Amino acid sequence: MGIQFPEQYGGAGMSAIDYCICIEELARVDPAVALSVAAHNGLCAAHIYLFGNDEQRRQYLVPLARGEKIGAWGLTEPTSGSDAAAMRTTAVKSGDGWVLNGSKTFTTHGSVGDLFVIMAVTAGRPASPSSARAGRSKSVSAFIVEKGTPGLSAGRKEDKLGMRASDTSEVLLDNCHVPCDQLLGKEGHAFKDTMQVLDAGRIGIAALAVGLAQGAYETAVRYARQREAFGRPIGQFQAIQWKLADNATRIEAARLLTYRAAYLKDRSERTTLESAMAKLYASEIAVKAADDCVQIHGGYGFVKDYPAEKFFRDVKLTTIGEGTSEIQRLVIARQLLAR
Ligand code: CAA
Repeated sequence: MGIQFPEQYGGAGMSAIDYCICIEELARVDPAVALSVAAHNGLCAAHIYLFGNDEQRRQYLVPLARGEKIGAWGLTEPTSGSDAAAMRTTAVKSGDGWVLNGSKTFTTHGSVGDLFVIMAVTAGRPASPSSARAGRSKSVSAFIVEKGTPGLSAGRKEDKLGMRASDTSEVLLDNCHVPCDQLLGKEGHAFKDTMQVLDAGRIGIAALAVGLAQGAYETAVRYARQREAFGRPIGQFQAIQWKLADNATRIEAARLLTYRAAYLKDRSERTTLESAMAKLYASEIAVKAADDCVQIHGGYGFVKDYPAEKFFRDVKLTTIGEGTSEIQRLVIARQLLAR
C-alpha cells in the first residue's frame, strides 16, 4: 500500500515502473483490487507525499504507506467531474482552522476510508467572466480530514456496473472543522497540485488497463485452446487468431506507452502528455480486449461462469476514472499546441 514511497515514510521505496507492474498484476486477476490500491497509492497518499510537509508525511503518510489506514481523495462533485475547477465545496477560515461544507461524489473508499484529502474553494471566485477561468484554479486548497471528524460522513454507496469490490461513495461535509495544520500544500495552490497528482495517477490507471487487458486476453487464449467447434479448437480458426494477434499487439503497445511515462516520472520529468497518452490508449484498447474476450467465449462470455463477463463490466471504468478519454484528448491536444 506504499509501493512508491520512501522507506522512511513506511513505503517500499520502489520505482514508478515497479508500481505499474504491481498494479498490472493485480488487475490481471481482479481489476477492482487494483483500483483500490491505485486510488490509495496514486491519489490520497501521493498527494500527501508530494505536497505535504515533513510533519504531515510522518503523521498521515506513514500509516497509509504501511497499509494501516485506507486513503480516499475527494475532487469530483455531483456537478463537477471533467470540469474539476468548477467545484462548489467551500472551506472558510474560522478561528484556529477551516470549516468545510459541501459534498464529493464517486470517491474511491468514500465509506471505508480512514484519511481523506478533500479539495475545496477557499477564496472568492472572481465576478468577471473574463478573469473567472484563471481565478477558479487559484482559489482551490486541499485539506487532510480524518475519519471521525465531526461533520464528515459517508453518503450513498454507489451500485456500480463493475469494479464492485472497490468502494465508491459520496462524502458529505457539514460544518466540518479542520485544524490549520491539516491544510495540505499552499493555500490556493491545490488545483495545480491536483493536476500533478493526476499526471502520476493516470500512469497507474494506464497500468491497470494494461493488466486488465492482459487478463482478458489470457482468458480468451485459454478458451480458444480448449473450446472445440466444427471438429477442432476454435483457436485454429483465423477469425479467432486475428482477434488474439491484434489484442496481443495492442496490449504490448499500451504497456510500452505506460512504462515510458513511468520511466520519465522516475527521472522526475513532467509527464502530462505521456501520462494522458498512456491512459487514453491503454483504456481504449482494454475495452476492445474485454469485448473480444466475451465474443470469443460466445454465450459463455455472457454469463458469470467465466471471468470474461467480469472483465467486460470492470473495464469501462478505465475510460472514465481519473479523467475520461475525452479529457485525455483535451490534455494531449493542449500539450501539443502549446509547443
Ligand atoms: N501540471 C501542472 N499545472 C497544470 C497542469 C498540470 N498537469 N494542468 C493544468 N495546470 C495549470 C495550468 O497551467 C493553469 O495554470 P495558470 O492558471 O497559472 O495558467 C491552471 O492549472 C489551470 O489549468 P487549465 O486552464 O488547463 O484548467 P481547466 O479548468 O481548463 O481544466 C482539465 C483542465 C485538464 C480539464 C482538468 O480540469 C482535468 O484534468 N479534469 C479532469 C479531472 C479528473 O481527472 N477527475 C477524475 C478524478 S478521480 C476521482 O475524483 C474519483 C476517485 O476517487 C478515483
